[in-house]
Amino acid sequence: MNVLVIGSGGREHTFAWKLSQSKQINKLFVAPGNAGTANIGTNLTINISDFRAIKNAVIGNAIDMVVVGPEAPLVDGIHDFFLADEDLKNIPVIGPQKRAATLEGSKEFAKEFMQRHKIPTAQYKAFTSETVEEGFRFLESMSPPYVLKADGLAAGKGVVILNNLEEAQKELEEMLLRSKFGEASHTVVIEEFLQGIELSCFVLTDGDNYQILPFAKDYKRIGEGDTGLNTGGMGAVSPVPFVDGAFRRKIEEQIVQPTVEGLKKDGMPYKGFIFIGLIKVEDQPKVIEYNVRMGDPETEVVLPRIKNDLLEVFQAVATQKLNSLVLEIDPRTAVTVMVVSGGYPGSYQKGVEITGLENVKNATLFHAGTLTREGKVVTNGGRVIALTSLGDTMHEALQKAYNDATLVHFKGKYFRKDIGFDL
Ligand code: AMP
Ligand code: GLY
Repeated sequence: MNVLVIGSGGREHTFAWKLSQSKQINKLFVAPGNAGTANIGTNLTINISDFRAIKNAVIGNAIDMVVVGPEAPLVDGIHDFFLADEDLKNIPVIGPQKRAATLEGSKEFAKEFMQRHKIPTAQYKAFTSETVEEGFRFLESMSPPYVLKADGLAAGKGVVILNNLEEAQKELEEMLLRSKFGEASHTVVIEEFLQGIELSCFVLTDGDNYQILPFAKDYKRIGEGDTGLNTGGMGAVSPVPFVDGAFRRKIEEQIVQPTVEGLKKDGMPYKGFIFIGLIKVEDQPKVIEYNVRMGDPETEVVLPRIKNDLLEVFQAVATQKLNSLVLEIDPRTAVTVMVVSGGYPGSYQKGVEITGLENVKNATLFHAGTLTREGKVVTNGGRVIALTSLGDTMHEALQKAYNDATLVHFKGKYFRKDIGFDL
């Protein structure tokens, strides 16, 4: 089979790496890809929001399956575009259709979904510019910290948590009346603050059946000890030690099953990954958010623990036979350490030469933000490379990843040295 992976980050390199090991793969394409994916497949220079260009590439390269990495093309309806096109409608797309992708594209939609299907989550109310005064009163009725969420996609910046009531009211005003996050903050969800430890649950569904993939925990803040600004993710660990059998059962019964059933009841066909951001409040799992894709860098620790042929897994999704698949999971611990550009998540330089990649021996190297220029690998993003290792203990896995992180060089390089510190 010829497969196209859409995206250019560490997640997509990991998908490509895993798919390249499939017995059934013929040609592997990544659009637009990075310097890492170019080593295992063919990069296609395509703007991923240009569905016509994607169609041309799919037809021109006789592609049999499309795997969508990031949320934006899903929220924009790439799957629906395929289904509506005579030439594309029989080519499976791994990723939900537009309506279900709204679970990530609109926080209010996601909250209504959870309420309708009795899925545990924080109490909330949604406001628009017309109801901003009610929003102020609602904040007054709550106790701090105040959680304000721009309804739409805001590149991971749309959630603001404040301790002070006046500041929260001012923030609400900025979002609703001064379009702080553009169209994304046309509606704002205000919700109860939940205190607990976060984890990521990944579900793969064919719309009828589902499989729960290994749990993971990511490290979002730039600074050690979870301090400083939010990033896309500075590292991840899988499995999550505090997810024991009883807690996993609660997650499955109270959250995963009603989510998959809810999609069915609401008539939202779904073939793809559901990434459920969870928080453990005392002994109770609650949903913080839904994403309609895999996490990054969680993918870099989840896929290396799955022993199955990933293309076979995706075929089971496409043909709605996920119930007959038995997932084989590596019991070892996987860790990934993200090496980033100096200045990230603020402004940073691109095009900086990276050396020493060939010295990485113990970890698996996934490119996140790189490209090849005049035969050299250079930085092309804030998150540059991820180093994943497996070990019998988290400590052993971390040692390998950190050792290899010191072997890669570029000006301004930074990585957190405390991944897994809280476990
Ligand atoms: P989200 O984009 O919804 O994942 O929110 C980003 C981050 O904000 C989450 O990973 C949490 O750390 C935090 N957060 C979101 N909602 C809440 C909440 N209700 N209570 C506490 N923290 C939250
Ligand atoms: N690592 C969090 C995300 O992919 O959204």
